[in-house]
Amino acid sequence: MTLQVRVWRGTEDGSFQTFEVPRYASQTVLDVVTHIQRHLDPTLAYRYACRVGMCGSCAMTVNGRARWTCRTHVDNVARNDRLEIGPLRNLPVIRDLVTDMREFFDKWARAKGQFKGSRTRNDDFEKVVPQTTERKAVDAGIECIGCGVCYSACNVVAANPAYLGPAALNRAWTLVKDEREMSNPDRLRAVAGDAGCHACHTHMDCTERCPKHISPTAGIAGLKKEIVKAALRGEL
Ligand code: SF4
Ligand code: SF4
Ligand code: FES
Repeated sequence: MTLQVRVWRGTEDGSFQTFEVPRYASQTVLDVVTHIQRHLDPTLAYRYACRVGMCGSCAMTVNGRARWTCRTHVDNVARNDRLEIGPLRNLPVIRDLVTDMREFFDKWARAKGQFKGSRTRNDDFEKVVPQTTERKAVDAGIECIGCGVCYSACNVVAANPAYLGPAALNRAWTLVKDEREMSNPDRLRAVAGDAGCHACHTHMDCTERCPKHISPTAGIAGLKKEIVKAALRGEL
């Protein structure tokens, strides 16, 4: 049994190249890409690290949809023994399957995605009680692995490259709900602008595609409510 695999080669103006790859049980899409690079064309560029769904580095577009490739089984996505594998959408292509993630993570910084607490290294750890409503609201969101799948799936990012996007806004949401956090007025100001959460059209593509079952859409809706409350308090 073999697979016909079309793989993106080159940069933005590249094209697909077809490879024939042996097929076997429990094979992942990342296994397919690795076979091509190790046995058919060592110049193929791609990225991965953990192979177990933790690092977020292996995301690619597989048969038209963004996915984490190390946890995507060929049996679930191949159509008529064919696969098409490309780089993530909405990001510049460095080469082949490797995208430039700088803008993606710069947007986390623009959404004030850095934790800012009040304790110093001389203080005891500040504990967060897991059962509080605030903490439970971000149970899923804090598991984000920064894979970029949601960002690649978002049509608003495609239409408006300045839009902060679902991952950065999900990060902001987790910090807004963190009771230790000291800089939430700044954070809410950062995500309230034209490129922030009000640009979201609630398409839910991010939520449908997130491999960690996070709902950035729900977090963005939560941010909108927090912005209104902060505005009424006169904090924005
Ligand atoms: S819900 Fe918002 S962030 Fe998510 S894909 Fe749709 S427009 Fe993008
Ligand atoms: S929210 Fe989900 S899809 Fe988006 S970067 Fe985080 S883990 Fe990946
Ligand atoms: S290689 Fe780490 S998440 Fe896929």
